Amino acid sequence: MTKRLFSHRSGVNRGPNRLTVALEQERQKKRDIIDLTLSNPTLARLPFDAQALLDALSNRDLLVYRPDPLGLRSAREAVASHISESGLSTSADRIVLTASTSDAYAYLIKLFCDPGDELLVPKPSYPLFEHLARLEAVRLKPYPLRYDGLWHIAIDEVEAALTRRTKAIVVVSPNNPTGSFLKRDELDALSKLGLPLISDEVFSSYPLINDRTRVRSALESDQTLVFALFGLSKLAALPQLKLAWICIGGPETLAEEARERLELIADTFLSVGTAIQLAVPQILKIYQPVSDAIRRRTKRNLDALSDLDWPVSLFHLEGGWYASLKLPNIESDEQWALDFLNKDQVCVYPGYFFDYERSSVIVISLLVAEPIFDEGLRRLAARVGATVKKG
Ligand SMILES: Cc1ncc(COP(=O)(O)O)c(C=O)c1O
Repeated sequence: MTKRLFSHRSGVNRGPNRLTVALEQERQKKRDIIDLTLSNPTLARLPFDAQALLDALSNRDLLVYRPDPLGLRSAREAVASHISESGLSTSADRIVLTASTSDAYAYLIKLFCDPGDELLVPKPSYPLFEHLARLEAVRLKPYPLRYDGLWHIAIDEVEAALTRRTKAIVVVSPNNPTGSFLKRDELDALSKLGLPLISDEVFSSYPLINDRTRVRSALESDQTLVFALFGLSKLAALPQLKLAWICIGGPETLAEEARERLELIADTFLSVGTAIQLAVPQILKIYQPVSDAIRRRTKRNLDALSDLDWPVSLFHLEGGWYASLKLPNIESDEQWALDFLNKDQVCVYPGYFFDYERSSVIVISLLVAEPIFDEGLRRLAARVGATVKKG
């Protein structure tokens, strides 16, 4: 009966996975958990200027509602000049504000896809794609990223995944969790496929190394339609303020058609709050100390990780907030994660959450405050040592 009553797309398996069950059990024992999956920056002991943020958010103009589907012009102008400061050329007319990157994906899927159409997505990558696609009634076709000491988008794999129902290609730069940036040759090759590129660049202000082969943004391509996604959730470490943006690039006529259609989609929802739209020009002036602190911390934690002498290899990392580790193949990724949690009270992601095919990969966050990160690493290293000795 319920099956007939509700949509297929809302019928996601809601049962908890083994790790969530184990985490709940540990919490009930009132044990302190070291959370090496932390991705909520507001809980990461960062130097937010609370008063400056509250001041930015308090504005008498928010007492009046003057909706603009694409976002208030003043907000879009601030966003456009922020993007232009990084050397990319854009304007307020090429910006669409959304409440989150997830909303941006949902708008773009509506823009290009009908039910049953396909989107190409990288693998391993952001676990939310599966849910976003399901809710929009589209199918995901993964294109694997290849690893040979560096991560690559294998263009032959992208081409092999194309079908006549493919409507857009998603790239994530730097990717979550591999941390790999989009390279110039990859962008050139993808642009030639003639499909729109949806380029999630929310972590692009967090490089961990310099690399001249990377592009600043997929917006550097002028051959195809590009939708670059950014937002305050990573840029300013303020996910609770709910503001993201799409920057449209590519051939002028197509970009204009896309903008007009997106305006209609956005007008149907009008989801972005007035308070944050009024505040964003000021927030873009004051966010830097926090993003600087994140850059220092992720680099420092990566160094601590690289300095460890243990039978674990770190996948090459170019940017972002996460690191992927290849553990000894004596246990599955899930079993390693359960052992760390049950025996050492350390929470890590098993690689399968991100569609890693290699069986004993785990993913940890570099956003964790330094002393907690070090204690977490110490416990991981001791557990790996003990397990290897036993096995
Ligand atoms: C690749 C990627 N895109 C987008 C987001 C989330 O952005 P938002 O909070 O704007 O939805 C995340 C969050 O972890 C992410 O990893």
